[in-house]
Amino acid sequence: MEYVIYEAKDMVGVITINREKALNALNSQVLDELNEAFDAVDLNTVRCVVLTGAGDKSFVAGADIGEMSTLTKAEGEAFGKKGNDLFLKIEKFPIPVIAAINGFALGGGCEISMSCDIRLASDNAVFGQPEVGLGITPGFGGTQRLARIVGIGMAKQMIYTARNIKADEALRIGLVNAVYPQAELMEQALKMAQTIAGNAPIAVRNCKKAINEGLQVSIDEGAVIEEKLFGDCFESYDQKEGMANFLRKKDDPAKVKHVAFKNA
Ligand code: CAA
Repeated sequence: MEYVIYEAKDMVGVITINREKALNALNSQVLDELNEAFDAVDLNTVRCVVLTGAGDKSFVAGADIGEMSTLTKAEGEAFGKKGNDLFLKIEKFPIPVIAAINGFALGGGCEISMSCDIRLASDNAVFGQPEVGLGITPGFGGTQRLARIVGIGMAKQMIYTARNIKADEALRIGLVNAVYPQAELMEQALKMAQTIAGNAPIAVRNCKKAINEGLQVSIDEGAVIEEKLFGDCFESYDQKEGMANFLRKKDDPAKVKHVAFKNA
């Protein structure tokens, strides 16, 4: 792959968008390679993915404006579908994906971060949906996910004004979970990924599914989704061993052990 790097270590995968000269802007090739990178994640060994951008200036500065500039209506729609299909794949990816947002997250950059489960930002990160200043709407999920994350009023304000916001404001409105000095961002993202990877993997996956699917339906239907995914955890090695470990600890605190969950 020319523009995407995939590495895996200690149950954590790291996908880096590596098109630094164009501030990691998303052209069709980057989108295709990101698709390939997610396909390359071995779900038997990797339990959490961190998605980031190369360099210390930009996470992703949006969809590629040069490529979009000559598209017809039909081609524009197809380009939107290409981005949406990929971002839906990230959103529904079986294991958690953490966005480590190391700079500009504009347009498609803000949108790809919103398809991730958790957003951590560096203190120099800048967020925005500048599309209406370019004569288009957000096209990779911005009109759909931003309102779900920060609320309707703030999403409409950001999208209609095309005004960028800095990391501290993104934190204040709930667009990101935490802000770190640039030099610490990856370390903190990997630390969180390791914590997630150390927990029972079937349970973590089922939590992601229950939260995502529950948000699309009524609370009654959501409760049914939860019951099924809760039930699905039982009789697994991880459930039996996780609970047995708790009970052993109660008998004798000396027996406190970290459970090596098996994804089984
Ligand atoms: N598409 C293509 N190329 C881009 C790009 C983008 N979105 N963003 C930056 N680049 C390129 C620049 O053209 C430039 O390339 P050259 O060196 O070949 O000229 C290089 O990256 C560096 O960019 P700048 O010189 O502009 O860097 P800067 O520090 O002066 O400004 C910036 C940084 C404020 C992020 C500015 O680059 C910028 O405003 N970029 C565009 C941001 C944007 O509008 N994104 C939304 C795109 S639309 C979209 O994403 C639609 C959607 O929803 C799917």
